Amino acid sequence: MYHLGMALVEVDGVSKSYPRRAGLRTEMQHVVEDVSLTIGSGETLGLVGESGSGKTTLARMILGLAEPSRGTVRVEGIDVARASRAELRRLRRQMQPVFQDPYAALNPRMNVLQIVTEPWVIHGREAGMARGRSALRAKAVELLGEVGLDESALGRHPHEFSGGQRQRINIARALALRPKLLILDEPVSSLDVSVGAQIVNLLRRLQREHGLTYLFISHSMPLVRYLSTRIAVMERGRLVETGEAVALCANPQEKYTRRLIAATPELPADVA
Ligand SMILES: Nc1ncnc2c1ncn2[C@@H]1O[C@H](COP(=O)(O)OP(=O)(O)OP(=O)(O)O)[C@@H](O)[C@H]1O
Ligand SMILES: [Mg+2]
Repeated sequence: MYHLGMALVEVDGVSKSYPRRAGLRTEMQHVVEDVSLTIGSGETLGLVGESGSGKTTLARMILGLAEPSRGTVRVEGIDVARASRAELRRLRRQMQPVFQDPYAALNPRMNVLQIVTEPWVIHGREAGMARGRSALRAKAVELLGEVGLDESALGRHPHEFSGGQRQRINIARALALRPKLLILDEPVSSLDVSVGAQIVNLLRRLQREHGLTYLFISHSMPLVRYLSTRIAVMERGRLVETGEAVALCANPQEKYTRRLIAATPELPADVA
C-alpha cells in the first residue's frame, strides 16, 4: 500500500537484457544491470550517462513500456510489471513521457486541439472529466496557456510550428491528465541552445506550480545540475554514482563522472 513519505518511484535491483546475434550464436546483451534508485515526490532526479549507457531503457521500464529481466519497478507502491490492467491505466495517467524528438511524438494529421486533448478523450471517463466539445476546447486553451502558447495554435498542425513550440505542445499534452511524474528523456537535446534554455525554464516553472516530480535524462552535466535535486550517473548499464546534485558536481567520486563533467561546456548565461 502506498503511503506518505514513500518514494514515488522505487527501482529495485533492475536488470534488462536483450538477445543479440553474435555470429551463429545468440548472446544476451546486458543493457541495464542491477540498478536501484528512488525518486521522491516533488524532486528532480537527473540521470546522466554516455550514449548507450541504458538511460532510455531504464525510463521505459519505469513507464511500463519494457519489462525488467530481473528486479522490480514500483510506482506509488505498485509493481509496474505485475499491475492489473486497471492499475496500469491509472499509473499511465500519473506518469507521462516527454521525448527528445518533439516532431516524432506528434501525430502530423492531428491539429493541436486534438493532440493536447487526446489523453482526455482516452482516459477522461476514468479521470472523471467532461468530454464535451466546449469543455475540451477550454481545457486545451488552459493547457496551451501553461506552456506559453495561445488559442491561435488550436487549429494548426505540428509541421506549422518550430521545434521549441512543438516541444511545448508535447509538454501541454503530457500535462493534460495532471500527472505526478514526468519522464523527460533528453527533452531539449534536439533544440538550439537558447530555445532549449527556454524549455528548461518552462519545466522549472511548471514543476513549481504543479508540484511535479521529474526524471530528467540528459548527456549534459551542467543542464542536469541546473535542474536536479539529485543526480544518478549511469555507465554501461550500471549506476556508478548517485548523490545530491550540487555536492556530486563539486566533488565527483568517479573518474567517469569527472569525464562527463569535463565533456560538456557550461550553460549559456541565459539559462543559469
Ligand atoms: N529493444 C531493444 N532491443 C535490443 N537492444 C536494445 C533495445 N533497446 C535498447 N537496446 C540497446 O541497449 C543499449 C542501451 O540503449 P539506451 O537507448 O537505453 O541507451 P541511452 O543511455 O538512452 O543512450 P542515448 O544517450 O544514446 O539515448 C544500446 O546498446 C541499445 O542498442
Ligand atoms: Mg536514450
